[in-house]
Amino acid sequence: MNIFNAKILSNEEVAEKIFRLTLDAPELAKISRAGQFVQVKISDEFTLRRPLGIASTAGGKVKIFYRAVGRGTEKLSARRAGESLNILGALGNGYSAYDGKILLVGGGMGLAPLLCAAEQFSADVLIGGRTRDEVTFWQEEFRPHVGKIFITTDDGSYAKKGFVIDLLPEVLSAENYSAILTCGPEIMMRGVAKFAFEKNIPCEVSFEKRMACGLGACLSCSIDTVNGRKKVCKDGPIFDAKEVFA
Ligand SMILES: Cc1cc2nc3c(=O)[nH]c(=O)nc-3n(C[C@H](O)[C@H](O)[C@H](O)COP(=O)(O)OP(=O)(O)OC[C@H]3O[C@@H](n4cnc5c(N)ncnc54)[C@H](O)[C@@H]3O)c2cc1C
Ligand code: FES
Repeated sequence: MNIFNAKILSNEEVAEKIFRLTLDAPELAKISRAGQFVQVKISDEFTLRRPLGIASTAGGKVKIFYRAVGRGTEKLSARRAGESLNILGALGNGYSAYDGKILLVGGGMGLAPLLCAAEQFSADVLIGGRTRDEVTFWQEEFRPHVGKIFITTDDGSYAKKGFVIDLLPEVLSAENYSAILTCGPEIMMRGVAKFAFEKNIPCEVSFEKRMACGLGACLSCSIDTVNGRKKVCKDGPIFDAKEVFA
């Protein structure tokens, strides 16, 4: 088990209630793989750590993107550059590596672990979000690391109006991808997996469950799969889509 005290380099709001946290954490960056996550100790008043995906490990810095949704993440958003943050990680299994170009399909904060995959693999990305503000910062983050960028917004305020599922058939008909990696709302990942099954493309999905220990000890994050009960924190968070959605 690796615990780090990482110095906060910045903690900026990049869209309403969405924050980019950059940590000086070269040792953590070295051992992290795309799709893995960390458990963050927010402060002494919180017994449970909060799980957050690793979005970048470039240059020995670890980037994390989070939405302030509750007490813990609100408190995290008040942490400032220069302070130190206690981090447990890297946890979970991570995405598999594939030869050839892969397609990353993400919705909302699900784009965070996919950004790390974009840094490590050859990929195009399909970005989905609610509004213009919720997709344009992702576009800038992904731009240096991917070939093509496709975007949908729920409200039509930027790029194509609709959900990633609406654009996916067009994207898949234009190129032969060796795999699809997806992360976001479960309903979106189910839809992505359905297209992948039809086209016979390997597909990996990233699961989110409320977590306590994050280490496989408390069973609070168990899910049913075709191969029996699995722990999202230890056996996942990445699963073959056929294992969870078949
Ligand atoms: C493996 C993993 C990776 C994650 N990566 C990210 C990430 O990169 N960025 C990000 O913004 N969030 C991510 N999450 C979700 C994040 O952990 C929760 O949003 C956070 O723990 C909420 O803490 P809180 O104290 O602010 O909210 P709480 O006060 O505990 O809860 C507030 C609201 O958030 C919801 N919530 C709490 N925990 C989760 C959860 N695990 N999944 C979904 N909803 C939850 C609650 O149902 C409630 O509605 C990840 C979760 C997991 C399991
Ligand atoms: S969070 Fe404890 S077993 Fe997964």
